[in-house]
Amino acid sequence: MRSLIVANWKMHKTIGESVAFAESLKTIHRDPHECDIVIAPPFTSLRPVADAVAGSSIGVAAQNLHHHADGAYTGEISARMLVDAGCQYVIIGHSERRIYFGENDQLINQKIKMAIQSGLVPIFCIGETLPEREQEKTYEVVEKQLKEGLNNFGADDIGRLVIAYEPVWAIGTGRTATPEQAEDVHIHIRQVMLAKFGDMTASQIRIIYGGSVNAENIDKLRERKAINGVLVGGASLKVESFSKIAGY
Ligand code: PGA
Repeated sequence: MRSLIVANWKMHKTIGESVAFAESLKTIHRDPHECDIVIAPPFTSLRPVADAVAGSSIGVAAQNLHHHADGAYTGEISARMLVDAGCQYVIIGHSERRIYFGENDQLINQKIKMAIQSGLVPIFCIGETLPEREQEKTYEVVEKQLKEGLNNFGADDIGRLVIAYEPVWAIGTGRTATPEQAEDVHIHIRQVMLAKFGDMTASQIRIIYGGSVNAENIDKLRERKAINGVLVGGASLKVESFSKIAGY
């Protein structure tokens, strides 16, 4: 399975800063690269970044989308607009969306449905909080997020889905899950997917890890077979650190 490395820039970078990064990454990127590389800039930079990486295999992701096709939803962005802006992927259900914007599993389910219908690959984020981990509820929490987030989907719908396991306590805290902790949950997620969708589909899904990934801890994470890539926040903002993580 090809691994996937995603740069999640969150609410950082102007258009000029985004394009400068993308152009500089493109100069060191050679196809075929050993893994798939995707940049998730803020909405305003989607089209400029898509243009800057055109002609390379570097992909573009949005960080969110609205669950309706169009309509009177001031301030929102539709899947069709994202496709039009050059996206192939979209991050859905990030813990910051869940915590600060009240997104729940039912809404996330509708967003994943909209992404799939529109031809976007959803990067579906799940993960437990620190109290949940301390109460040994990690498996229970991720199972619920998977079941509700993927409710009413069949194996045919989710062939290209990416699942990002991001323990909330490891995001932006500098406190990364150990490779063992991450691998353990990844194996569990794979089992849940196998039970729900069967071998053929569940074995193709990439399960990536996110939470304080950086140039120092990437090698240890990469050694784990159950970890099919990473979703990188803080360390994706500089070309130097991101390019090390991306294996250049
Ligand atoms: P971080 O963010 O790498 O800064 O912890 C990861 C994420 O939120 O996707």
